[in-house]
Amino acid sequence: MKTADDLKRAAGFAAVDRYVRTGMCIGLGTGSTAHWAIVRTGERVAAGEQIAAVATSGVTERLCRELGIPLVLFGDREIDVAIDGADEVAADFSLTKGGGGALFREKAVAIAAGTFVVIVTPEKLVDRLGAFPTPVEVVPYSLPYVRRRIAATFGVEPAVRGGAASPFVTDNGNPILDCAFGPLSDPAARDAELRAIHGVVATGLFWGLTDAVIVADPEGVRELAR
Ligand code: A5P
Repeated sequence: MKTADDLKRAAGFAAVDRYVRTGMCIGLGTGSTAHWAIVRTGERVAAGEQIAAVATSGVTERLCRELGIPLVLFGDREIDVAIDGADEVAADFSLTKGGGGALFREKAVAIAAGTFVVIVTPEKLVDRLGAFPTPVEVVPYSLPYVRRRIAATFGVEPAVRGGAASPFVTDNGNPILDCAFGPLSDPAARDAELRAIHGVVATGLFWGLTDAVIVADPEGVRELAR
């Protein structure tokens, strides 16, 4: 009987083995599934392959250092392939990300990468995004303003992640508003509407970025066709 962690490991290992070649610079995501892609990359580096990485969070950076994976600053090299998990994957390969709070850097790396590979277990696959609250990273000064604008515009009350008294803070020093919109018919439009509110840094809605989705379930590892 395979555990949830066995499946995440299978997805992470498959992505690295299918998409990463020696000599590449890769983007490494954040979260419990991306963890295994980092572990596999570490094994290949330890075996002598030349693979450098851009980390999408402090957590990922620390694991890369522990495993001896050479790190590159974002923007210093072209990123050949980025590998990351997701909170939701829709049929059109749009994503909700940011459950771990690394959405800004994850999106930066996904945009910059030549190929963006998403690794998930089957419960992440959805018809439409939106059951998972959309994370919205906000400049601290603007938090009350953005919260009110989202409530007034979309009719949902955003939740300050971690609570208003001691908000969760991202690696960029910003709080996150989690917005329970419900099913989103047009994630690209919602992303644009949110980013048009002054003070919004980034949203966890990723659209037009995903090149491949690798799913690990108890029957094996498969790659989705769009
Ligand atoms: C991190 O900010 C997130 O975008 C993660 O990639 C996402 O939450 C998936 O994480 P798990 O693989 O731990 O479910």
